[in-house]
Amino acid sequence: VPVTAARAANPVEPAAPRPLAELGTPFALIDGRLLRANIASMQEAVASLGAALRPHFKTHRTIEVARMQCDAGAIGLTVASTRQLARVTGELGCPVLVSSLLQADPAVSATLRASSDAGEVIFAVESARSVELLRAALGPEPRAEVVIEVEAGCERSGVAPRDCADLARIAARHGFEVAGVFSYPGQSYAPGRSRDAAEQERAALSEAAAALARAGFEARHVSAGSTPTMPYARSGVVSEYRPGTYVFGDRQQLTLGSVESSQLSLTVVATVIAVHGERVVLDAGGKALGRDGPRWLDGFGQLVDRPEALIGRLYDHHSVIEPYRGDPVRVGDRVAIVPNNANSTMVLLQSAWITEDGESAVELRPEPDR
Ligand SMILES: Cc1ncc(COP(=O)(O)O)c(C=O)c1O
Repeated sequence: VPVTAARAANPVEPAAPRPLAELGTPFALIDGRLLRANIASMQEAVASLGAALRPHFKTHRTIEVARMQCDAGAIGLTVASTRQLARVTGELGCPVLVSSLLQADPAVSATLRASSDAGEVIFAVESARSVELLRAALGPEPRAEVVIEVEAGCERSGVAPRDCADLARIAARHGFEVAGVFSYPGQSYAPGRSRDAAEQERAALSEAAAALARAGFEARHVSAGSTPTMPYARSGVVSEYRPGTYVFGDRQQLTLGSVESSQLSLTVVATVIAVHGERVVLDAGGKALGRDGPRWLDGFGQLVDRPEALIGRLYDHHSVIEPYRGDPVRVGDRVAIVPNNANSTMVLLQSAWITEDGESAVELRPEPDR
């Protein structure tokens, strides 16, 4: 699939690739072949379970990558912010699941209404108040469907499975078609916990779908997932999965075992700006890599294929590897870093370059997140 720049001067013409050597560091570099391989293999894995894929747009926030996912067979996308929603409904026209409770903020009502008028949008609800606010945002005859968010061990938002039927009745009274249930197994983000999280999520969704069925609602969408639970996905109750980070992978996913190093499609290219004995300083700091540092992960990034070359200290525009023990590096050399969280890197760097040959690249400009 040829990649075109999001804001090319002539939208019909693909932007001309630029030599990597001309791009100022730090920048995010995406390997197009690995990206497409990740998209294809997740699609295949989910299809082999008899389920559908509805990838999360928040990871890349670019129409080009979303198109690749839809072309590969995704049934739609998941979004988490009004900007993401407006962009996907406006430019892609594919079905969208809004997994965040955007209706809680009346300031964005007009965008929610315009998006649901423009396309097939499913909104999350998880309280009577969130139903009322959605109805207030969309007007008396809402076209949109709703899915009930189920709490499945993450302890974020969501209702207990046994409370789904009551909420479904409330949503129906407000004029909504109840399309099913969904959950987010965020507790999967801890080493050794991802398998249990997947099982916990399946149990919660299965109980919730059964409660809906007993109340006369058909759960057409039973939506699950995060990237760390995908290796433990099983056929059965779940009808669709929503991983996002799988397209790039990152150090968190590597540590959790949800991706292998050969699958990492996004790195941050940085320049060595100082070398003092065993201390190597790079020009990619917290404003490029992000400061994501879960308790179970040392450091803020590592050099590609060199876990021992760990970024242990971070400043806004500097990062420090110490002790650095590896092939000698000099000031002015370029290195490639695997960031802890590819989602944060994509937000912070605001653009990313996609390469097919490792020599030149085309710019992608993700949608801002707010
Ligand atoms: C509701 C929801 N679904 C799916 C995802 C995607 O998960 P991941 O980033 O692990 O791929 C997220 C991530 O935050 C989420 O909040």
